[in-house]
Amino acid sequence: MINRRWRLARRPEGAVRREDFILDEAPLAPPLGQGKLLLRHELLLCAPTIRNWIGGRRESYYPTIEIGDPILAPAASRILFSDDPAWPVGALVVGLGTWQDYEWVSPEGRGLRVIPDGISSRAAMGLFGMNALTAYFGVIAVGRARKGETLLVSGAAGSVGAMAAQFGRILGCRVVGLCGSVEKARWLREDCGITSVIDYVREDVPDRLAALCPDGVDVVFDNVGGEFLHQALARTNRHGRIVLCGQIATYDVADPDAGRPLDMMRIIYGSITLSGFLLNDFSIDIPDAQKKIAEWAKQGLLAHREDLRDGFDSLPETFMALFNGGNQGTLLGRIADKQGRAL
Ligand SMILES: NC(=O)c1ccc[n+]([C@@H]2O[C@H](COP(=O)([O-])OP(=O)(O)OC[C@H]3O[C@@H](n4cnc5c(N)ncnc54)[C@H](OP(=O)(O)O)[C@@H]3O)[C@@H](O)[C@H]2O)c1
Repeated sequence: MINRRWRLARRPEGAVRREDFILDEAPLAPPLGQGKLLLRHELLLCAPTIRNWIGGRRESYYPTIEIGDPILAPAASRILFSDDPAWPVGALVVGLGTWQDYEWVSPEGRGLRVIPDGISSRAAMGLFGMNALTAYFGVIAVGRARKGETLLVSGAAGSVGAMAAQFGRILGCRVVGLCGSVEKARWLREDCGITSVIDYVREDVPDRLAALCPDGVDVVFDNVGGEFLHQALARTNRHGRIVLCGQIATYDVADPDAGRPLDMMRIIYGSITLSGFLLNDFSIDIPDAQKKIAEWAKQGLLAHREDLRDGFDSLPETFMALFNGGNQGTLLGRIADKQGRAL
């Protein structure tokens, strides 16, 4: 069985380039050790944080991909071989995969979950996937957003952000979303029902925040970091909650630490909470969250879009679209069709 792989060729300096990765093909090696599943990866989620994993910072809370290793990525995959009835052959699973066609894995090591019949790999990675769930727990459990409060969401037309904004709307919050293009602003208004949108490329953010949030902001859901976080903090109310979901503005740059420090005295005097979090903190509650999301989707309350790009060879270019505003929705690299044939 021939296996295509994208491995890390070198650590990126500044913006990621195709040359940072190396493509090869090799016969699939037999498994090492016991308790293994053979997976055929079908869909790979382009998660912005992969940029941190290849950066080489060696942070103990997240993985470092070594030079020469395959690129780790959340994946939807089909089980091709298993000797454990809990992981039946043919089942669709989601968890951490790699930029390869095939892979032997231990289910425990990759956080695998079997997807119930009737849910497509696309839905498992999209509407019910990791990004939607992150938004759900971020808004509800971490931000504790309540009816009547003002919720400010950055990266609001992105995969996580669009769901966060809509969950806030469903809860009865006054939602203000930031995005960087006319088309994304239109989609947020017309399809997601987010009427207050700031186009941070064409508009002055502090001025627009003052106009749209005259009574301040209660919950900030931040996907972006950088200058936005300063602007949001300046409008955050006393006892406000700032949910730190991601820092995409600082991932694909030469010096991620270059920004100015936050106004700590405002945080102290405002009794403001800044909370980082990970989806994994809420693993046990995922089935309930998926039920709720399914219910809202059935009621027609949620818009969701995937940006599906076919082709193993173009995975680096697909990934790079994350950092130039090029993707419209949950960015997925499709490397096999439903029959498992290579794309
Ligand atoms: N904590 C967790 O467990 C967890 C889980 C998943 C994701 N995340 C984080 O969530 C964030 C969003 O991820 P995603 O998968 O939703 O990505 P995404 O779909 O690409 O959305 C990110 C959005 O941010 C905007 N953006 C990109 N670079 C920007 C910049 N320099 N300044 C301002 N806006 C910028 C992009 O659009 P426009 O600029 O064109 O509007 C894009 O729509 C990332 O920071 C990611 O690391 C965290």
